[in-house]
Amino acid sequence: MKIGVFGTGIVGRTIAARLVELGHSVSMGTRSPADTLARSGPDPMGNEPVSAWLKQHPQIKLVPYAEAAREGEILVNATNGSGSLDALRAAGEGNLNGKILMDISNPLDFSRGMPPTLFISNTDSLGEQIQRTFANLKVVKTLNTMNAQLMVNPRSLADGNHTVFLSGNDAGAKETVTTLLRSFGWKDILDLGDIGTARGVEMYLPVWLRMWSALQIPSFQIKVVR
Ligand SMILES: NC(=O)c1ccc[n+]([C@@H]2O[C@H](COP(=O)([O-])OP(=O)(O)OC[C@H]3O[C@@H](n4cnc5c(N)ncnc54)[C@H](OP(=O)(O)O)[C@@H]3O)[C@@H](O)[C@H]2O)c1
Repeated sequence: MKIGVFGTGIVGRTIAARLVELGHSVSMGTRSPADTLARSGPDPMGNEPVSAWLKQHPQIKLVPYAEAAREGEILVNATNGSGSLDALRAAGEGNLNGKILMDISNPLDFSRGMPPTLFISNTDSLGEQIQRTFANLKVVKTLNTMNAQLMVNPRSLADGNHTVFLSGNDAGAKETVTTLLRSFGWKDILDLGDIGTARGVEMYLPVWLRMWSALQIPSFQIKVVR
């Protein structure tokens, strides 16, 4: 399939690389390809510059958000939560309409240092804001509750015997995302319900961050034992 991945950070890169490995064609969206390619140092998270990373992934095209949205049959939001709505506006409503958006973003606010707080919570979520703003987009929140490497290689931990969540209003979109997740290696995919349930998985982040701090490793996961 043709997939448009919005975001050039570690999540966008990890998802894009795995999709290519699985035989998909990927356009990676950014605000300005020229500006993104001109960055020469590591990003704030210590990742190598996008230009160096792209040299190792020549099948992936770096394009403006609108082009990634236009080309993608399925879309992935891996942009910073604070910029997700702006990124989608730049993608253009006409390019989004009717498509599935796998939304991995989290509403993290780093303005007061670590650990970050949530800039949306309790009575709303970023997933819902995206769905409300782009009514014809089929938003499916998923994968936001774990570290990027686990998203695409769940079997690297406990043989994949742990849980990923889905939240979204459209049953067909959730089915398509489930197929994609299974292709990544996921076995336990728990559908929480409509996009309103994204509040729960986004509000898990403060717990994730404390566990990260206590464990000092990012490779841990939720396993829902029935
Ligand atoms: N890191 C993880 O392991 C992890 C795990 C779970 C969920 N998440 C969530 O996944 C998302 C991506 O995380 P990340 O660490 O890969 O990258 P990030 O640094 O959070 O986001 C980088 C991307 O956001 C875009 N962006 C930032 N501000 C923007 C704005 N105002 N308008 C448009 N685009 C904007 C950047 O655009 P340019 O390309 O133009 O610079 C870049 O593509 C986040 O929402 C994060 O909370 C991350």
